[in-house]
Formats: sequence, structure tokens, C-alpha cells
Amino acid sequence: MDLARWLGIEHPVLQAPMAGVQAHALAAAVCNAGGLGALPAAMLSPEALARELTLLTAATRAPYNVNFFCHLPPRPDAMREARWREALMPAYREAGIDPGTIPAGPGRAPFSHEIADVVEPFRPAVVSFHFGLPAPDLLARVKAWGSKVLASETTVDEARWLQAHGADAIIAQGLEAGGHRGIFLSEDLGMQLGSFALWPQVVRAVQRPVIAAGGIADAAGVRAARALGVAGVQVGTAYLLCDEATTGPLHRAALKTDAPTALTNVFTGRPARGIVNRAMRDWGPISPLAPAFPLATAAIAPLRAWAEAQGRADFTPLWSGQNRSGCREGPAAVLTRELAAAWAA
Ligand SMILES: Cc1cc2nc3c(=O)[nH]c(=O)nc-3n(C[C@H](O)[C@H](O)[C@H](O)COP(=O)(O)O)c2cc1C
Repeated sequence: MDLARWLGIEHPVLQAPMAGVQAHALAAAVCNAGGLGALPAAMLSPEALARELTLLTAATRAPYNVNFFCHLPPRPDAMREARWREALMPAYREAGIDPGTIPAGPGRAPFSHEIADVVEPFRPAVVSFHFGLPAPDLLARVKAWGSKVLASETTVDEARWLQAHGADAIIAQGLEAGGHRGIFLSEDLGMQLGSFALWPQVVRAVQRPVIAAGGIADAAGVRAARALGVAGVQVGTAYLLCDEATTGPLHRAALKTDAPTALTNVFTGRPARGIVNRAMRDWGPISPLAPAFPLATAAIAPLRAWAEAQGRADFTPLWSGQNRSGCREGPAAVLTRELAAAWAA
């Protein structure tokens, strides 16, 4: 399968959508360098999404990907919320924050018809999903306007499920990957596979193009992924220091260290990989008390703002994959072309 031709791009190098650390500028830079740039929409209001899509389509004529989360919105659980705020109490006291004044509320909305109304006029070449797929009527709507649908999985079972439920191509997200795990059929992190175990097994299990993600940071990583039979690569962490990324200064500084990463649910309620910091050490990295995704986001937000104002990343989600060796400052086009050349070699 010639993934690049199928997607209408030059090279089968996909920039991973990364909510919170990039907008249209990074996506456009990758698109204009011949890869598939991505606009992460999980944290954008419909108005902000419309604005970003307008800016993206003004900045590139090449195909692009718009990415959504499709989790089931949780029912707020007052007991669980209270126990979580109790656990965070020592930090609230230190910061002088009254937890009674913190507004509840979801930090990330799942894909919906309201959001589809915003996307439809743009008819992006690709729409991608994290945490499974949206409801059948929504998925049918996306396909009917002509977008190809990509979705992440973290196990062979999830890959088969995505194929059976209508994904056109499958992103195999190895355990090394930064940010949220795309896990959706199970909550058992112990069954998650590392990239080199996951990719070839998924290639054998499904009859869809497989895109390798997780730990690919440079030309050698691209060659290794290609040798395992995948149709293309998706790279996230390596783009985090690029000029066009909006990665904050504290996050950038942490990425330049060799501090370890771990999977944690304390920031959002779902497991995600980030650089270990105080929040992860004090309450996790995995806590059974954390409210369901995305409700955990609210409780930690004022602590994050308080610490960041003092130049500390103690409560900031420092999303990062295990392999930061490819992170470099400079234009995203340079990194994209380097990865693309490795695929072609
Ligand atoms: C900072 C950051 C934010 C992320 N946000 C998203 C997101 O919004 N949507 C998504 O599908 N994947 C997200 N991911 C996961 C990526 O799609 C991808 O699986 C991962 O970056 C690949 O591994 P790597 O980071 O080792 O390259 C994010 C990853 C990072 C590092």
C-alpha cells in the first residue's frame, strides 16, 4: 500500500496531533514539507476550531488531518470528586487555594454533530480519532463528506475492532508514545505493547494500512519502523521543540533534560505519558482516586497556574514520549524532510 499516494501527500510521514502544544502553524509547516500535518481539536471550542481551520487552509493547499477524541462523557461523581480534592488538599493549602471555589467541568469534549458542523465545510482529507471511533451515525457523516478516517489503537484486539467498525487506516501506538494512550477496549495498562512488538503483529492482523507511532524520533527510527512492515510513520514528541509548536517554556526546558517519563492519570483521568514531576510523584503516577477523564483536569488547573506563575512545572502535564533523542529546535520542515528522506532511502 502506497500510503502517501492514498492520502494525496508526498511522503508517508504524519505529524502526530498534539493538543495543547500546537495549532495550525505546525500542521501547515509539515503539510508544506510534504508530510501530513495534523490539527488537534480535542481542546478547541467550535469557534476556535473554525478559526484554526480557516488559518490552516490559508497556510497550505496540501491535505491535512483534523484530530478528535471520542470518549464517552463521564457522569460527574461528587463523592469521587470530593475524595480527589481531599487528596490534593496539602498542595491547595500550600498554594492558598480554596478547593470550594474551583469550577468543575470537562476540559475536553468528544467529537459531536455540533463539531462536525464546523468541520464539514472544510472537508479535510483526513479525520483521525483517539480512544476508539465515534458513534456510527457520526462516523458515517465524516465518511460521507469524503474524509479518510484514521484511528489509534494500542493492542492487536483494538486494531481488529477498528477495522471491523470502519477505520480506513490504523495508527499502532506503542507504549513508548507521548501523551494519552489511545487505549479503549480495556483499562488494563499491563496488556499494552511496546512499539516493536505491536507494529508487526498489527500489520499481520488487519487488512488496512498500519501507521507506526511511539518512539520514532529520527531517521533510524523511521527505517526501523519501515523494516517492520508498516505503511507509514506518525511522529509526535520529536516535533515538540520545533519553532512552530506552541510548547510552553517550562515544558520545553523539561524536554531538554533526560528525566524519566511515566504513564499517569492525575492530570486528566486517563493514562498519558509525561515527564515525571511533583504531581505524578505525590499522587500517582496512576491514582485510583483521580476522577474519570476528562474531569480530573479541573482540580489540578489552579495548582498548575499557581506553580507556573513562579516558574515551576510541578503540576504541569509535561507530555513526552520515552524517546526524546530526536527533539530539536528549528523549523518543522527540516525534521519532516529528514524523516521523509529516511523513509525513501
Ligand atoms: C504533547 C502530546 C500531545 C498529544 N496529544 C494528542 C492528541 O491530542 N490526539 C491524539 O490523537 N494523540 C495525541 N498524542 C499522541 C500522539 O498522537 C502519538 O501517539 C505519539 O506522539 C507518538 O509517539 P511519540 O510521541 O513517541 O512520537 C499526543 C502526544 C504528545 C507527545
